[in-house]
Amino acid sequence: MTMKILVSDDVSEKGVALLRQHFDVDVKTNMSVSELIACIGEYDALVTRSQTWVTKEIIGAATNLKVIGRAGVGVDNIDIPAATARGIMVLNAPEGNTLAATEHTIAIMMAMTRHVPQAHASIQEGKWDRKSFDGIQVQGRTLGIIGVGRIGSRVARRMQAMEMTTIGYDPYITEERGQQVGVELVDFDTLLAKSDYITIHTPLTDETRNMLNADAISKMKDGVRIVNCARGACVDTKALAEALKSGKVAGAAIDVYPDEPLTAENNPFLGIPNVVQTPHLGASTIEAQIGVAVDVAVGVIDALEGKPVMTAVNMAPIPKSVATVIQPYFRLAERMGTIGIALAGAPVCEIEVEYTGALSETETQALTTAFLKGLLNPILQDSVNFVNAPSIAKKRHLNVKESKSHQSRYFTTAITAKIITSKSEHQVVGTLFDEKEAKIVEIDHSRIDFKPEGYLLLVPHVNKPNMIGQMATILGSAGININGMQVGGSTDEETNIMAIAVGDDIPKDIMTKLRNIKGILDVKLINCES
Ligand code: NAD
Ligand code: MLT
Repeated sequence: MTMKILVSDDVSEKGVALLRQHFDVDVKTNMSVSELIACIGEYDALVTRSQTWVTKEIIGAATNLKVIGRAGVGVDNIDIPAATARGIMVLNAPEGNTLAATEHTIAIMMAMTRHVPQAHASIQEGKWDRKSFDGIQVQGRTLGIIGVGRIGSRVARRMQAMEMTTIGYDPYITEERGQQVGVELVDFDTLLAKSDYITIHTPLTDETRNMLNADAISKMKDGVRIVNCARGACVDTKALAEALKSGKVAGAAIDVYPDEPLTAENNPFLGIPNVVQTPHLGASTIEAQIGVAVDVAVGVIDALEGKPVMTAVNMAPIPKSVATVIQPYFRLAERMGTIGIALAGAPVCEIEVEYTGALSETETQALTTAFLKGLLNPILQDSVNFVNAPSIAKKRHLNVKESKSHQSRYFTTAITAKIITSKSEHQVVGTLFDEKEAKIVEIDHSRIDFKPEGYLLLVPHVNKPNMIGQMATILGSAGININGMQVGGSTDEETNIMAIAVGDDIPKDIMTKLRNIKGILDVKLINCES
């Protein structure tokens, strides 16, 4: 029987035609949630853009679904954990609309700078007003780019042609990469303080949600201009609206919103004159829509035909021959990567993964890939998977070394990972207890014993009394439950590390309080499930 595909958003006919060569395809857009729930059980694959919210309920009703294809980059409209739990592959089309989003960023930035929409509206009203719309030149001004990835780096290149100075904040790329695209990398506060324009191009993650909030805005230059063509929730839109009204921010160009679609009821910028708004049009060019539709169709066809999928977001085939030995270590390796990137705190240039014991006798490349996936996933758009993690690492100039040793220091079988940045070197050692329970047993030469699960605080501190007590007091008075706590057995008498398992995410103000405790050297919050 031919497999059935549902296309639930407007996707270019070129992609739909490609799908029709292989499967039965129904295109049904603007369906209500209940209509979608009622029919999704018939389909083997679902293709969406950003309009369909593929929730847990929809996935729960999708009894035949094998693949969800997203014609675009952002997969924040798909409940990926729910899809993964049901064994449904989620794939996207990350490259096809990069240029469209780049050009739209520049279009709204320049339109905001020269009041183009406002002047257009005025002339359409029959006025000839040449006094109200004085703009500024971008030439010679500083553009601060937050997130120097695919889109951020292209915006940089193009605005350099307009003779802007480009600086960037992206703690996950190397200086070498910054230099390649002509962006001087600076820290977040320096970017805020130095920029005449700030444009954000990060994925929406725990770290980037509300990144441009009232506090960040207060650190910016008076008269700064802000552009958001990434994800709405990266900016606190209410704080931005207030700053526009007060004149702190001279202009804003906004394409994306925390709650889409935007209506007159939930639009905080309504009636504010110095704003240019578009309804999530970043990817809306003919070329980009064809690009993402064809890319997603190819991905869905490959997935349903059992071929490797380069753009899978949540899974990839694991070779059967090695699976039995290495499978139990996958989650450990991935979570060691997530811990590794948190420890690094600077662009990583080299990774060394050593396998000892039983793992030294088998093919472990897939485990290194799992480690890389865990390391890269928290910092990139949700598209790092077992297939593409090595090539993404390569593109980011990450030197990855793998080695084997029959000798293990404490455990028969263990994974030791070194994470090397230009400034520091960190080490994480993990193993399995009873061949199934993942544990981290050493961090930066301190012996420790904790499960890499849920939210974790890793806290290097001066080895002196009452460090734990002060941490616990602040967490307790903020109502944050401590599920477990471990202090390392350090070989260095002066410093030690503690690992604290907490029930949930920790607000930024509490993190600041924890970091301000005298003797606490750093506090890293890690979401091991991310
Ligand atoms: P990308 O993954 O290529 O780049 C993201 C960059 O952000 C990476 O270099 C990463 O290191 C950096 N980053 C991650 N966390 C960061 C942090 N906390 N601080 C600073 N930098 C951080 O992604 P991309 O393809 O360039 O897409 C960028 C954004 O644009 C995404 O949110 C995507 O969904 C959005 N997008 C919007 C439209 C639109 O229609 N408006 C179209 C395409 C993409
Ligand atoms: C994307 O993530 O690809 C863009 O936001 C464009 C879209 O949603 O179509």
